[in-house]
Amino acid sequence: MEKSSHKHSRGLWNTRLGFVLAASGSAVGLGNIWKFPYIVGQNGGGAFVLVYILCTIAVGLPIMLAEFTIGRKTSLNPVGAFQSLKPDTHWVKIGYMGVVAGFFILSFYGVVGGWTLAYVVKSFTHTIISFSSSKEAGHFFGSFISNTWEVLFYHALFMGICVGIVLRGIQGGIEKACKVLMPTLVIILIILMFRSLTLPGAMEGVEFYLKPDFSKIGPKTILIALGQAFFSLSLGMGCMLTYGSYLSERENLASATVYVVVFDTMIALLVGMVIFPAVFAMGLQPTEGPSLVFSVLPTVFSDMPFGNLVSIIFFALLAIAAITSGISLLEVVVAYFIDQRKWSRKKAVLITSATIFTFGIPSGFSFGVLSEVKLFDMNFFDHVDNIASNYLLPLGGMLTAIFVGWVWGTKSAEEEIEKYEKKFHWRYTWGLLIRYITPVAVFLVFCAKFF
Ligand code: PFF
Repeated sequence: MEKSSHKHSRGLWNTRLGFVLAASGSAVGLGNIWKFPYIVGQNGGGAFVLVYILCTIAVGLPIMLAEFTIGRKTSLNPVGAFQSLKPDTHWVKIGYMGVVAGFFILSFYGVVGGWTLAYVVKSFTHTIISFSSSKEAGHFFGSFISNTWEVLFYHALFMGICVGIVLRGIQGGIEKACKVLMPTLVIILIILMFRSLTLPGAMEGVEFYLKPDFSKIGPKTILIALGQAFFSLSLGMGCMLTYGSYLSERENLASATVYVVVFDTMIALLVGMVIFPAVFAMGLQPTEGPSLVFSVLPTVFSDMPFGNLVSIIFFALLAIAAITSGISLLEVVVAYFIDQRKWSRKKAVLITSATIFTFGIPSGFSFGVLSEVKLFDMNFFDHVDNIASNYLLPLGGMLTAIFVGWVWGTKSAEEEIEKYEKKFHWRYTWGLLIRYITPVAVFLVFCAKFF
């Protein structure tokens, strides 16, 4: 009784679909739409896609189920969750690491989220499709991200939108927003895919994307794919744990996990089907790198019929995906202050978001006034991204797997999973993955950073 009233006072997902859409909203973001295509482009296309799917199944799926399970069992934020399962042990530090990672990631994610908002606005004014070459578009992008006031304004706008949603709490804010935004995103992507596939020369792109060339796969490719799976599925920092903590008791965790992983992967694959046919049809290079979306696509759009409309829709889509991920990052930090420090939601949201925004300012300026300030050849933005994405997430994911597999124990976890569902069908496989395969695989990714 007491536990159930505690659950209700924190807020709960209203429907099962709402939870799955919100968790999918967290997973689907800049990682899928901005990062995935350029990483595929740089790593040889089809074969990389296959390795990525394998990593998602072998590492992403088991860790996501582990996070959901800890979250629902404890109904707490990451710090409170580990504290309640193994009080006053070093394991609680995994929770703190998660909150810090959320803080770090949102600080630069908000900057890139701001860029996407700016591109929506600039699409309305026809600026984005006015370039005659991708070089020109790249030049424009470079000068935009170095403009102090514009970057600051859109960064603040992005954070403001996230604050507005998270302030409204679980059902009224996050769930409601994701229920509208996620289906919109899928519809827009499908329309864009048809547009892209019907361009003359599009099939060359489809071939690059879908025909695997296994000679392009090496140890490094596998490690890049694994890292991308982590970031894309929002794993390793207790984000899915926090979302799981708002689940009512009767949900089927295993199938919810499958839905979210399949949805996230489908979106990434769909985005590839939008981008590669278009890039090849325009005779451009898939290996362009991080500027692919911001500097190559505008040229693609400007050569298309209805290009301006397509541009508005595409960047709106990117902004929507970034917002539903941004709110999940903010919620991790906010939940910590609400549960552990007994702050009100309003106080927690306003104070943490203002602090995260302030900490993100040097990241926003890293391509302008602070571009000369470098340490080990990396600017402030690169350092924060590197520490959070390449160290904190894999470390957090590996430790979570070890914690569930060996410390809390797969038996206790399975009890929680089976509490409200008839049968946990892949119980044996999951046990095997979470105890052995997942920690070793993540350890390898982690080690790769040192070579
Ligand atoms: N999964 C998000 C993306 O693909 O853009 C990024 C992200 C969100 C990472 C939430 C981690 C997280 F906890």
